[in-house]
Amino acid sequence: MPLVISHRGANRIAPENTLPAFERAIALGVDGLENDVHMTKDGRLVVCHDDTVDRTSNGRGRICDHTLEELRRLDFGIRFAPEFAGTRLPTLEEFYALCGGLKVIDVEIKRAPDGDTASAAEVIRLAKQAGLEKQLLISSFDPAMLLACAAADADVRTALLYMPASPCCEELYEDIGAFAKKYHLAALHPMVGLVNEAYLEECRSLGLMVNPWTVNLEHALVSLRDWGCDGVITDEPALAARVMYGKSA
Ligand code: G3P
Ligand code: CA
Repeated sequence: MPLVISHRGANRIAPENTLPAFERAIALGVDGLENDVHMTKDGRLVVCHDDTVDRTSNGRGRICDHTLEELRRLDFGIRFAPEFAGTRLPTLEEFYALCGGLKVIDVEIKRAPDGDTASAAEVIRLAKQAGLEKQLLISSFDPAMLLACAAADADVRTALLYMPASPCCEELYEDIGAFAKKYHLAALHPMVGLVNEAYLEECRSLGLMVNPWTVNLEHALVSLRDWGCDGVITDEPALAARVMYGKSA
């Protein structure tokens, strides 16, 4: 059965990419978590989707322009609901501390504004420190970031994220096997509309996992399950668990 990977945690019932969202997803019985990481001005990795804090906190500005201490003063819960007031920006270490029982930990490294790839080695170092390197699956839209991961540790598993507008699509579709080899990929993470049964079969024959995103509709979950997809990245972990495992979570 496909693994259920909760996108930004249980982001419909708690503020996305916060510890409460990840804890709620784990309580629903998911197989894995997806998050997004950025590096602060002082070189710390924090969990947040956007490169600014404007949408998800009561502050303003780019993560890369602030220290962790500055960012920790902000409230990442209040804009979602009053009951989450006081929720702080999680560090990647805090996120990893929740992940011991998971089958897959999908850390998406967002591109740094200056294109720097220093986050790659740090994501891996912290995963090893937490004893989670086997479950780790690093994803990125940026092939250069994935190459930096492979350079930091040849055994780390990486996944390319892509959508129709991604610059890499032409090269990828020309020869999926050659592309995967060039970038040392263990998995492909396509936008869900790009996946069909034949594509999954081709990737399977190449030894590549496929975990589409963001799979929120029951009919898509059912199709991917029946086609033997490896995992689904979803905003609807309870629905996905029911479709995949008959769980009533
Ligand atoms: O992991 C897939 C998905 O998270 C990629 O898009 O914008 O939600 O990070 P985004
Ligand atoms: Ca993401």
